[in-house]
Amino acid sequence: MPKILIRKGKKQYFEDIDREVTLAKQRTFYISDLSKDFSTDQGIIKKTDLEKKDGSVIKTNKDKEFNIFTANFIDEYRRIKRLPQIIPLKDIGFIISQTGIGKDSIIVDGGTGSGALSIFLARFAKTVTTYEINKEHIAIVQENIKDLKIKNLKLKNKSLYDGIDEKNVDLVTLDIPEPWLVVSHAEKALKPGGFLVSYSPTITQTADFVNALPEHKNLVHIKTIELMEREWQVEGRKVRPKSKQIIHSGFLSFVRRI
Ligand SMILES: C[S@@+](CC[C@H](N)C(=O)[O-])C[C@H]1O[C@@H](n2cnc3c(N)ncnc32)[C@H](O)[C@@H]1O
Repeated sequence: MPKILIRKGKKQYFEDIDREVTLAKQRTFYISDLSKDFSTDQGIIKKTDLEKKDGSVIKTNKDKEFNIFTANFIDEYRRIKRLPQIIPLKDIGFIISQTGIGKDSIIVDGGTGSGALSIFLARFAKTVTTYEINKEHIAIVQENIKDLKIKNLKLKNKSLYDGIDEKNVDLVTLDIPEPWLVVSHAEKALKPGGFLVSYSPTITQTADFVNALPEHKNLVHIKTIELMEREWQVEGRKVRPKSKQIIHSGFLSFVRRI
């Protein structure tokens, strides 16, 4: 099992200069190969120390302390290979919470892209089938699935515009350029009560998707949202939103099959 090494940083806020000074840099390392010594810019850690139990404090040959523990899903997920833009965690979390998917859920997702959304959904669902037209992307996702040991994710080299093969589906998620072309396919694939969720970076794509819904008698638009994540800087009493942030990722539209 891969391990995580963390050296806790130390900062101090000096009021007279209104600035936080880093006394020791916080460092994090991911170690996939535990069969040899591990080199860091803070010195070398012996392989026998890498085998120590989770929570142990170990030292480099330069006497720098690190805590060690086993990497979990999120540590490995953050290292997936990426090609197209992936959907951010804040949006994935919202899809999961708003659709109530769980261990019995059958999901169809597309386009697969780097597989970020598909892989996360597969953690919760019974099965995820993901559609992708680009073979290069499929090859990357196959590697990601192998690295994360995901067993319930099926890849299809097929365009969602040509239809969805699966039936009685609990959730269809779309992250493709023209999601409105998949609405009637999703309507047929979903079971009553199932959700269709479309993620689009632009509001014009979102409008075209939502405006296509009224002609589908078995679909109702629940809501369209944009989720903002604002990270804060906390340095002594200097507490304020960070000045550099990702302001926009995409819009999420939630539709229900009735
Ligand atoms: C932005 S990426 C998806 C990222 C993905 N949601 C993730 O989190 O990793 C869009 C993907 O859709 C694929 N795509 C575009 N049109 C498609 C279609 N008609 N059917 C299936 N996939 C399609 C593209 O090749 C691209 O890989």
